[in-house]
Amino acid sequence: MPGKKIDIFDTTLRDGEQVPGCKLNTKEKIELAIALEELGVDIIEAGFPISSPGDFTSVREISKVVKNATICGLTRAVQKDIEVAADALKYAAKPRIHTGIGTSDFHIKSKFNSNREDILVRAVQAVKWAKNFVDDVEFYAEDAGRTDNDYLARVVEAVIAAGATVVNIPDTTGYCLPHQYGEKIAYLVNNVSNVDRATLSCHCHNDLGLATANSIAGIIAGAGQIECTINGLGERAGNTSLEEVVMVIKQHHSLGFYTGVKSQKLFPMSRLVSDTMRMQVQPNKAIVGSNAFAHSSGIHQDGFLKDSLTYEIINPEEVGAGESKIVLTARSGRSALAHRFRKLGHEFTRNDVDVLYERFLKVADTKKEVNDDDLHQLAEAYQAEVPESAEVLKG
Ligand code: KIV
Ligand code: ZN
Repeated sequence: MPGKKIDIFDTTLRDGEQVPGCKLNTKEKIELAIALEELGVDIIEAGFPISSPGDFTSVREISKVVKNATICGLTRAVQKDIEVAADALKYAAKPRIHTGIGTSDFHIKSKFNSNREDILVRAVQAVKWAKNFVDDVEFYAEDAGRTDNDYLARVVEAVIAAGATVVNIPDTTGYCLPHQYGEKIAYLVNNVSNVDRATLSCHCHNDLGLATANSIAGIIAGAGQIECTINGLGERAGNTSLEEVVMVIKQHHSLGFYTGVKSQKLFPMSRLVSDTMRMQVQPNKAIVGSNAFAHSSGIHQDGFLKDSLTYEIINPEEVGAGESKIVLTARSGRSALAHRFRKLGHEFTRNDVDVLYERFLKVADTKKEVNDDDLHQLAEAYQAEVPESAEVLKG
């Protein structure tokens, strides 16, 4: 496989599950973790063990059954959190503790009533505590998106020196523009002397709809891991959507990246998460929305039927979404109508289609979408009226 491998860190079971109404029980979490492993993600953030007994149990039980993916547990930079996470992860084949603290002045002053120097000491201490239990320690600099770059570089250098294997640079509030987030990662790559000893990770929120763009800017600038969720679920407007970053990387292979995700499993995975979390996917959602491969206007349908590449950059089968859909509405044209009649077993001449098209438009103006039953009715009525039109099919 050419290029640089980008690790996919799935946080559907942690950041994704923070969505109101999406709470999962242990059985559901185990089922999703197994599916995520089969999907090919590298790291599964299974929960925040100290947050509740249920989350502790979920992380512990997932650790027992998942063997290929790394299992990660979140903590604050608090000794007890880290001890509890280590306990929850003790059966994991590949355990990772994800610890960290807010580094922006908003967090330092408002949340911690502290100062930059004390926060730096606490960051290093948290990594050292975690290192007592596991080799693989990820540090997050919460609100890195709004953290001063010089200070952030000092924190990153210090936690790597303390043993962090991965350093997460979260745009916690989804504030950054893609070029700013990319420049932040590039700044760290160029100004942290020991940066080659750790992987930088992108964790972007979607408050301005920029999470995917920011994550891609981050890997272009040198990050090696993307943190994301299925269907982009997560706090407020959500996290980076896993299916989007995976397909951006696949479509734009000239960027020189690849992931271990099996793209044909993306659509079934999306539906499994949506059903389990009882959270519908918006129809126009990229890659996995029900309209992502549906063509409705006449101009698009005609072009698509001549050559699908005219209006589709991804074959839906590549993401496990089955076939593209031609939706018949009042905006559809004759070629789409004839195509659907043919699929339903009604072959008509051009002149027949002209007549049927006028009748079709009358039905379409009264309905949002004309379905196959409507078309059968139109065809049968027309064939009864003009018997020779049925001959085309028979002959
Ligand atoms: O958005 C964020 O900053 C987080 C951290 C806890 C990693 O989710
Ligand atoms: Zn987050």
